[in-house]
Amino acid sequence: MHYATMGNTGLRVSRVGLGTDIRLDPAQFLPVLHRATELGVNFVDTDYSYTYDRADGSHGRSWEAVRQWLDGQDRSRVVLAAKTYDPSPDGAYAHVLESLEGMHTDYLDVFMLHGLNTMDDWDRFRPALEGCARARDEGLVRHLGLSTHTVTMAREAARHPELEVLLVTLNATGKVMKRSGTPAEMQLAMRELCRQGRGVYIMKALARGRVFTDQEQLVAAGSPSPLSHADVERALTYVFQCPHAHSVTIGMRTVAELEENVAIADQVDEAAGYWERGTAA
Ligand SMILES: NC(=O)c1ccc[n+]([C@@H]2O[C@H](COP(=O)([O-])OP(=O)(O)OC[C@H]3O[C@@H](n4cnc5c(N)ncnc54)[C@H](OP(=O)(O)O)[C@@H]3O)[C@@H](O)[C@H]2O)c1
Repeated sequence: MHYATMGNTGLRVSRVGLGTDIRLDPAQFLPVLHRATELGVNFVDTDYSYTYDRADGSHGRSWEAVRQWLDGQDRSRVVLAAKTYDPSPDGAYAHVLESLEGMHTDYLDVFMLHGLNTMDDWDRFRPALEGCARARDEGLVRHLGLSTHTVTMAREAARHPELEVLLVTLNATGKVMKRSGTPAEMQLAMRELCRQGRGVYIMKALARGRVFTDQEQLVAAGSPSPLSHADVERALTYVFQCPHAHSVTIGMRTVAELEENVAIADQVDEAAGYWERGTAA
């Protein structure tokens, strides 16, 4: 596995990150998490809204598996990101506490405003940063940031140094970017963020398996992906070749998908030569 340091945060993350919006119960998800550790993955992206369906019709949360997995880990070797959709300071702070409790951990490495795409979103959700900053001042959170699908918001983030880590949508065809700009434009925004010392990571590299499908709408998490190996190789090569992201968080529902994706990432990173090859220290 190759690793990158997320700008001024100093967080050292594996180039392949593990997405958790995959609608798997802990029994199905834990083997993926354990194999990810063996392969050197140390970066996990979570959110309280990522759920799975129980047999009785109720919902469990993806982080139940993360909690069980973390039990056997040296916490200092894991980089854990979580998020909030709540626009209020108290609501965002409450989501920090809920995330800590949900994953049985004392701190979150990254805590983000979730899915802000427009300037209206930014105006509305910005007050939540006050609650996030309170959590950071109390040592519950290490670094703040936001996630976005749009070039608009990625550009705006460059004007706000308090956003230390950005999770952005990037894929080879520009899917799920809300028609806000092209992948090339997103890469320019990411380059500026990196130049300023921010941590940057990518989501939607495979657009939930629809990266080469003629549809703009995102399918539900957990819908079977129609991608062939050649498709996956093409899509992942595009994002891992981008020099303006420290990691790519991918939703992987099986050990086979994980192994395939790590092998592709390793091959691209090895050829690029600018990331550190090593182990999750
Ligand atoms: N902040 C936000 O706004 C936001 C929003 C959404 C997601 N996220 C985060 O970003 C992560 C990644 O996004 P995502 O999971 O929505 O989309 P994604 O990573 O683009 O796609 C995930 C899907 O791709 C398929 N896949 C993965 N590896 C494959 C392989 N080797 N061969 C064939 N298919 C493969 C899997 O589908 P099958 O297993 O069904 O085939 C998987 O469900 C999420 O898990 C979550 O942590 C953040």
